[in-house]
Amino acid sequence: MKQIVILISGRGSNMQAIVEARIAGAQIAAVISNRPDAAGLAWAKAQGIATLALDHKQYVSREDFDAAMQAAIDAFQPDLVVLAGFMRILTPAFTRHYAGRMLNIHPSLLPAFPGLHTHQRAIEAGCKLAGCTVHFVTAELDHGPIAAQAAVPVLDSDTPESLAARVVQEEHRIYPAVVAAFVAGKLQINGLRVQIQD
Ligand code: GRF
Repeated sequence: MKQIVILISGRGSNMQAIVEARIAGAQIAAVISNRPDAAGLAWAKAQGIATLALDHKQYVSREDFDAAMQAAIDAFQPDLVVLAGFMRILTPAFTRHYAGRMLNIHPSLLPAFPGLHTHQRAIEAGCKLAGCTVHFVTAELDHGPIAAQAAVPVLDSDTPESLAARVVQEEHRIYPAVVAAFVAGKLQINGLRVQIQD
């Protein structure tokens, strides 16, 4: 069984999609949040999954917080760390430690629109397509080998909220699929490119 630790900060709908996918050969070892009041934490606990809150505000520096997080994660000896709406900028030491075994989902078609407010920025830029990206995490924010992307149309009537609702449906589809491919040993990283074997 491959052990997976999922990190969240809020609602946790991507975490929920991955849990509910019941991926063969994978066990969700724990769900960890940097916000004790994250709604997703309560949901995971109700499923009988080990949960942990590490409040980043209790740490003096980003390095201290990431070191504590790393120790908490590694206690579960994960094969894969999944960032699912985990809203923290990570230190290089943390990303190096999990190189090749930490995934993130970002609500844009990277490399367009790294960072926050992606849907508003896509609408303002006049994009006709928006979407989401699952990528391996590197030290550079929202920039790492891309495992999967999905695109949706941007409609004239869209608000950031309506576009986000369309994109998140695709997030829930591609994120469990990429995690399943990782668990099955089917992902191969070559530079910034990721091949998925049949
Ligand atoms: C998702 O859109 C994700 O791509 C972004 O934050 C949102 C988190 O949603 N990073 P959820 O917590 O998974 O519901």
